[in-house]
Amino acid sequence: MIVLGLEGTAHTAGVGIVDGEKVLVNISDMYMPVKGGIHPREAANHHAEVFPGLIKRALERAGIGVEDLDGIAFSQGPGLGPCLRTVATVARVLALRLSIPLIGVNHCVAHLEIGRLLTGASDPVLLYVSGGNTQIIAYANGRYRVCGETQDIGIGNMFDKFGREIGLPFPCGPEVERLAKKGKKLLMLPYSVKGMDVAFSGILTAAQSYIGKERIEDIAYSLQEIAFSMLVEVSERALAHLEKDEILLGGGVAQNKRLQEMVRNMITERDGNMYVPPPQYCVDNGAMIAYTGYLMLSSGQTTSVENSVVRQRYRTDEVVVSWRKS
Ligand code: ATP
Ligand code: FE2
Repeated sequence: MIVLGLEGTAHTAGVGIVDGEKVLVNISDMYMPVKGGIHPREAANHHAEVFPGLIKRALERAGIGVEDLDGIAFSQGPGLGPCLRTVATVARVLALRLSIPLIGVNHCVAHLEIGRLLTGASDPVLLYVSGGNTQIIAYANGRYRVCGETQDIGIGNMFDKFGREIGLPFPCGPEVERLAKKGKKLLMLPYSVKGMDVAFSGILTAAQSYIGKERIEDIAYSLQEIAFSMLVEVSERALAHLEKDEILLGGGVAQNKRLQEMVRNMITERDGNMYVPPPQYCVDNGAMIAYTGYLMLSSGQTTSVENSVVRQRYRTDEVVVSWRKS
């Protein structure tokens, strides 16, 4: 079964094609804001411009024609309205023209499924850390449950905002990581874990107030140490509560080596394993949408055009996980 997947919840326009569990292609084109943060309308225009070319290239690289496709999957949410609407429009046109099923995919669930496919994790707790999202997700009773999440901004967003203030190029996460390696003094920053949730805007404000007063390397170091400790604490509680022993990382921030080290220390103490997908599958990508679309389609889930309206706040636990046995 061959499914083409379109991703476009935020910066990235991605196209992936899978044949069952085999990823045939995964290509993308990222919108780069000229100045400042992401502008949803501009990102959507970018996606509209690049999708036709990306789809053509993806089919060529897979060595197939449109007539070989069995379904069109697209990122239905959560994400930025204008971006989501652009992707949905492209997906509807393709599905209607080709008279094949349309499958609306939840972006967060897709991060988890591609991770399971590529790393061999079977029933992990997912620590999903990207620009816009920070969630701890695990399977229980037929759904992927959000065990904990950010109450304000995503962790990647925090690094980007901090970085922008000190003039780092976007995306700032990798630069903050580089600076943090040279830091050694742990500055006081608010550690905010509330139950199973975390919050980052307080830490960001506190870190910004150190700019000009402390070494930038020490601020970056402290920012990472405190924010990652919070994530490790909440992830560990989810693992203990659900009696799971695998932790899967996903999202752009998952590439951070210090985060990986801290998570690895925690899971090793619990006699469990950590899994990290290859970088191009950690960040937003079309293959994860195509693969989750394949799982949905093969378990009988499709999306009618009437139900294909985009869902900016699409919750992870709204998805009925029909492809997994309870
Ligand atoms: P979404 O939130 O919809 O998943 P996104 O486009 O913000 O989308 P990703 O592409 O998954 O997310 O990740 C981008 C984010 O990851 C940026 O905020 C970037 O700064 C951060 N990031 C990338 N590499 C690192 C790193 N090594 N350390 C910390 N943060 C990083
Ligand atoms: Fe994402």
